[in-house]
Amino acid sequence: MARMTQDTAADSSSEPDRVEGAPTLREAAVLAGGGEAPTARHLVSIDDISLQEMHALFRLADRFAAEPRAFAGTCPGFISASLFYEPSTRTRLSFESAMLRLGGGVLTAAEMTSSSVVKGESLADTIRVVGGGYADVIVLRHPSEGAARLAARYSPVPVINAGDGSLEHPTQTLCDLYNLHVERGKIEGLDVVLAGDLKYSRTVHSFAYALARFGANIVCVPQAGLELPDYVVERLHEDFQVEPMRADARRLGNLASNSDAVYLTPQKPHQLSLFTDARGWEVQSVDAVYMTRPQTERHSGAELSETTYLRLEKRAMAAESLRDAVVMHPLPRRDEISDEVDADPRSIYFKQAARGVPIRMAILAWLLGRVPLESAGEPSESVESYGVPVGPNPCPNPSCISRTETRHAEPRFRILDRDPLRVACAYCTRELSHAVIGCSRSRIFHAPQAGTIRLILPEHLVFFGNEEAAVEAGFRPAVGLTGH
Ligand code: NCD
Repeated sequence: MARMTQDTAADSSSEPDRVEGAPTLREAAVLAGGGEAPTARHLVSIDDISLQEMHALFRLADRFAAEPRAFAGTCPGFISASLFYEPSTRTRLSFESAMLRLGGGVLTAAEMTSSSVVKGESLADTIRVVGGGYADVIVLRHPSEGAARLAARYSPVPVINAGDGSLEHPTQTLCDLYNLHVERGKIEGLDVVLAGDLKYSRTVHSFAYALARFGANIVCVPQAGLELPDYVVERLHEDFQVEPMRADARRLGNLASNSDAVYLTPQKPHQLSLFTDARGWEVQSVDAVYMTRPQTERHSGAELSETTYLRLEKRAMAAESLRDAVVMHPLPRRDEISDEVDADPRSIYFKQAARGVPIRMAILAWLLGRVPLESAGEPSESVESYGVPVGPNPCPNPSCISRTETRHAEPRFRILDRDPLRVACAYCTRELSHAVIGCSRSRIFHAPQAGTIRLILPEHLVFFGNEEAAVEAGFRPAVGLTGH
C-alpha cells in the first residue's frame, strides 16, 4: 500500500482547497485507491504494531498536540463505540475526546451492566451488532484476558483493546511511550523503573514488552508478592532474550528498600563492569519511574504482603539516581505517590494523561484509514491460530475469556515452537501444558516429545491433560503408550 512520506505530509498542508485537518487530496487518493480494507486492522496487543508505525504515530500525535482543534475534518461521519465492561475515566474519556476532536461521533456503553449482558448476551454477539453498522471502530475494556482478541475475530471494524483483565493495555502503552519520546527525545537505551503491582497491572505488562522491543532497560521494583508474573518474564526472554538479574537498588533510596529489585535488559553483551558484587546490577541513574496502584479488583488483597505498599514521597525523590527521572503513573493513583510530589517538576503524570488525547487521535485516524502513517513499516506479522477440534477446554488460565465465553471462544491455540511442540492459548497467550497430544484424524495420541507429532497438521492437533482423558474421548494410544 502506498504510504505518505514525511515530505508529502509537509507539502500537503499547503493545498488550497483543503478543509482544515481533513485528509489531503493525496491522502484521499491513497485511501480511495486502497478501497475498503479486506480485513480490519486491530490493536489488541502492543505486538500488533511495528516500531516504525509507533514512531509514525508519535509524529502524527505531535501534529495533533500542536493544534488539537485543527483536525475536525479528519473523521467526519465516523463513529466510535466505547464498550466498557469495567470502570474507566481517562481511557474512555480521552478516546471520546480524541474522536470528537477528529470530527467524529461517539457511542458510549460505559456501564455494560445496563446493556444486554444482563440478559445473557455474549461478547461475540454484542461485537457483531455494534460493529455491524452502529460504529466504525470499537474501543473495548473487559475483565477477561483475551476478550479483545476474541472481539477482533468477530468484528468487521477495528477493535482497540482498552484493557483486558491483567493481560494488556496497548493504548496506555502508546501513551506512555509517547510521553517518554516527548520528555526524553528517545526510548532506546533508557532505564525505566516499573514499581508497584507488577503482577496484575496490564499497563506494566504491555509497557514492559514495548520497552524491551525498543531496547530500553527495565528495573522492576515490585511490591512484595506482586512481582512480574512468570509468563511475562518468559515472553520477554523468548522474544527479546531478556535474562532477569538481581539488581542492587540502594541508590533508589527508600523507594526500593523493601523490594527485591530485578534488572531486565535486552542489551547484549552486558556491561559486566557495572556489576558490583553478589548484589547484582547496580542501578545508578534512571530516566523514568513508572508507579502503579495495587490492582485490588483483580486480587483479594491476600497477596499483598504485610509490608505497606510502596510509596513515592518527597524524600524518596531526593535519591541521587532519580535526579533526572520523570515520574509517571497511568492513574488513578491511591497513596503510592504522595500529593507533595505533584509540585515536583519531574512529576509528569497529569501531562501524561493529557497526552492520551493526541496519541489516541493518531490511533483512531490510523485505524480508520483516514491518515496513512508516514514511513510506516510493514504491519507486524499476524500469527495464525488454530481451533482444537475435540477435547476439553485446554486453557489453564481461570481469567481467560475462553472460560466464560464458552459458546464463541472455542479453544484455539497458536504454535510457539514445533520441535518439541509448544502452544499457547490464542486468546490469553498463556502457554498450554499437555500430557498427551492427539490427532483428530487418526484418533491416536502420543507423548508430547514424540517425533511423529511433527507430522500432524496443526488443525488436527488435540491436547489432553492426561491419558485417561484421551481414552475417554475415544483416542487410542500410540505404540509405547499405555493408555492409562
Ligand atoms: C489503568 C488500567 O485501567 O489498567 N488505568 C488507565 O487506563 N489509565 C491503570 C489502573 O487502573 O491502575
